[in-house]
Order: sequence, then C-alpha cells, then structure tokens
Amino acid sequence: MAPGFRWITLDVNDLLPHYWRQDVMAASRAADCRDFPCTPVLSREAPEVRSIPRGRVHSHQVRQHLPWLVDLYLHPFIQLISEAWQEPVVPATDDRYSVVLNVQRGRSMRFECHVDSNPLSGLLFFTDHPQGGELCFARSPAASGMAGIDEDCSVIHPQTGHLVFFDGRTHPHYARPLRADTDVRVLAAMNYYTKSFPESTRPQRLNRHLYGDPVLSVYSRLKGVFVRTGARGDSAVVPADRRRSAEADRRGNPPAGPTIAS
Ligand SMILES: [Fe+2]
Repeated sequence: MAPGFRWITLDVNDLLPHYWRQDVMAASRAADCRDFPCTPVLSREAPEVRSIPRGRVHSHQVRQHLPWLVDLYLHPFIQLISEAWQEPVVPATDDRYSVVLNVQRGRSMRFECHVDSNPLSGLLFFTDHPQGGELCFARSPAASGMAGIDEDCSVIHPQTGHLVFFDGRTHPHYARPLRADTDVRVLAAMNYYTKSFPESTRPQRLNRHLYGDPVLSVYSRLKGVFVRTGARGDSAVVPADRRRSAEADRRGNPPAGPTIAS
C-alpha cells in the first residue's frame, strides 16, 4: 500500500512586506490567461481533456514586479523548510521555473491534474477560499482526472499567507474551480530540489513543451562549467550537466541520470 500524502503548512504572514497585497494583485492582473495544453509526462488528466483554462504570471514578470517574493524563495523559505525536511534543500538555478504565480479567475479555470517533476514544491497562498479552489491530492498514485482524484483525496483550503510544502511526485493533484464568477485565486508556486533528486533530473521534454527548444550557444565561462542558453527570449545560466542533458535530448538520446520519478 502506498504511503499517505503528507504536507507541511507554515504561516508566513509575518514575513510578507506590508505592501504585498497591492504588488500581488497588480502582478496577477497581467497574468497570461488562456487554454494551456496538457503537460507531457506529468499530466494525469482524463484522456478526453486536451487543455485547461488557467492563468500564469511568468517567472520573468515575478522577478520584475515581486522581487521580495524571489528573496523569500531563495532564503527565508529554504531556512524554514530545511528544519523540517529530511535532507538539504536548494532553489532552482533556472529562473524560468523557480517562482511563478498561478492565477484562477471565475468558475471556468482550474489547474491541471498532474504529478510534479521536482522533489519539493512550495505553494504560498495569496487569497482565501473556504469553498472552491481547493488543492486536492489523490491518495492513490494511480488516480487520474478530476473525478478519479476527488474519489479519495486530501484537501487543502487556500488561506492567505500559508506556505505549503510537499513532495508531489507520486500523488496526482489539481486545483478545483472557484465557486463564483468574481472569485480570483492567486498563489506563488515554487520549485525546490535536493541532493538526491537534483535539478538535472527535470525532464527536457517538459522544458521544450513550456519554453520551446533551447538554443545552446554562444558563450561559455568558467572553463565550460556554465553555458548561456536561450529560449523564446528568456535566458538562464545552467550547469554543464544540464547542458549535456539537453544536448543528449536534442539528439534523441536519453539524458544522463533519471528523468522523472513517477
Ligand atoms: Fe504540482
């Protein structure tokens, strides 16, 4: 029998700057809201579902408009979870998926049934929802689709300033639709990694789906330890092991090491 789903909730209201609400609401108004196609590898949607309407404030927008959130992601939140997690925790080095905002507006949006590729996720809720917008985790790793997850699941109700940490690699999860057309749900979604499951395990196919084909290029530094990559105008400095993984993947070979743990 698979172990039950477990999570840690921390009240971090005291760590938020006094102007957080204005900043977050302004950033969320710029969310990229549309039908997003189901995610390869990680999706646990019902077979007939091809896309899900939802909103996303991308990481470059977060870095520009919510620098305090990036600081919290990099330092205080890691300190907090390191006291409770079983091994040291590190942030993502690739800014494209380090911190983003997930946004739902009205009753038509929700978040995809999926599993995570990273060993530790942090969600910081910026809105309260006693009903609707629940985060649901299937107890069975085999569950799929909303109905399958709802059949037997753990439910987390979004509460402002609550930071939830979990390992979502095994238990399929999704966010339910809101109950009213005027409701807005906003949270920060943060990816963390560990030594036993480092960032190099992130599936390259996932990055291609989200960001397009990486264009490896131009310049290296520190005797080839790092390279600059770019995709759709975004860029990041990545370690050489991920560069090799991306190159192998582009050639159609599997990258070195595990690609996904579910
Ligand atoms: Fe997730």
